Amino acid sequence: MNDVTPVTEAQKIKPVPTLPDAQTVTEVKHWTDRLFSFRCTRPASMRFRSGEFVMIGLMGGPDPKTGKQKPLLRAYSIASPSWDEELEFYSIKVQDGPLTSKLQHIQPGDEIILRPKPVGTLVHDALLPGKRIWFFATGTGFAPFASLLRDPQTYEDYDEVIITHTCREAGELVYGAELIEGIKNDELLRELIGDENLAKLKYYPTTTREESPKMGRITDLMRSGEAFTDLGVEPLNPETDRAMICGNLAFNLELKEMLEDYGLEEGANSDPKHYVVEKAFLD
Ligand code: A2P
Repeated sequence: MNDVTPVTEAQKIKPVPTLPDAQTVTEVKHWTDRLFSFRCTRPASMRFRSGEFVMIGLMGGPDPKTGKQKPLLRAYSIASPSWDEELEFYSIKVQDGPLTSKLQHIQPGDEIILRPKPVGTLVHDALLPGKRIWFFATGTGFAPFASLLRDPQTYEDYDEVIITHTCREAGELVYGAELIEGIKNDELLRELIGDENLAKLKYYPTTTREESPKMGRITDLMRSGEAFTDLGVEPLNPETDRAMICGNLAFNLELKEMLEDYGLEEGANSDPKHYVVEKAFLD
């Protein structure tokens, strides 16, 4: 009889994870009725390069025929930098989306599934050395740049770092705006990146459907030259400029074409060149 007791005790001390590849949610922030971010524990052995993504999700409902439950997973860019002991994600809420309709209700202490196999093209290794790096984002496409902007390598590799973010409404810019404000004011980040490196950072937020200090799609603002005038920089040039694109599909395609017109060529992990592109992962 006695030998049963230690097992029960051990179970009390160390809860058995209920999901495969379970990680625990530590913080959730809702930014608008369409956007939220959350942080979770990071598997001890998981290494990744800033800008990469992983598959995350929840257990789906039981199959009506077999009763079996299957994980419901989607690709999510990791928004936290590689040195952070936790992981952060930035997500859209789609009310009838199979995953985000449920994921938007997670709370600290809940478990999510996280497959610890990071991959992706928005990494420094996929670009040739250059003087200036452009990060072009729309909506939740800001996520991989939230990681790269907190990575000291971004500032060590380039003389100028420019992040553009186009959203429909001003409220959708807040996650990015606060993050950039945080980088400049956070003691740890300032120490890690250095004040002179942080002076390289230029932020260019624009909205398309609600009044804000700068309105218009970044693509149109570049075509007219307004974006370059506002930023006080020359238009893109393959000799000096490198770029990463992450947004909705139409944006990615349009900007890719524009970058090709400037003479930039698409790179990959195995063949680094001038720019890389990734699609936003919508539910
Ligand atoms: P717009 O409002 O003019 O469509 P979404 O929320 O639909 O993913 O869009 C995010 C932002 O990306 C919006 O501000 C949207 O502008 C902009 N956008 C959509 N398509 C393009 C494109 N082809 N080029 C530039 N910006 C785009």
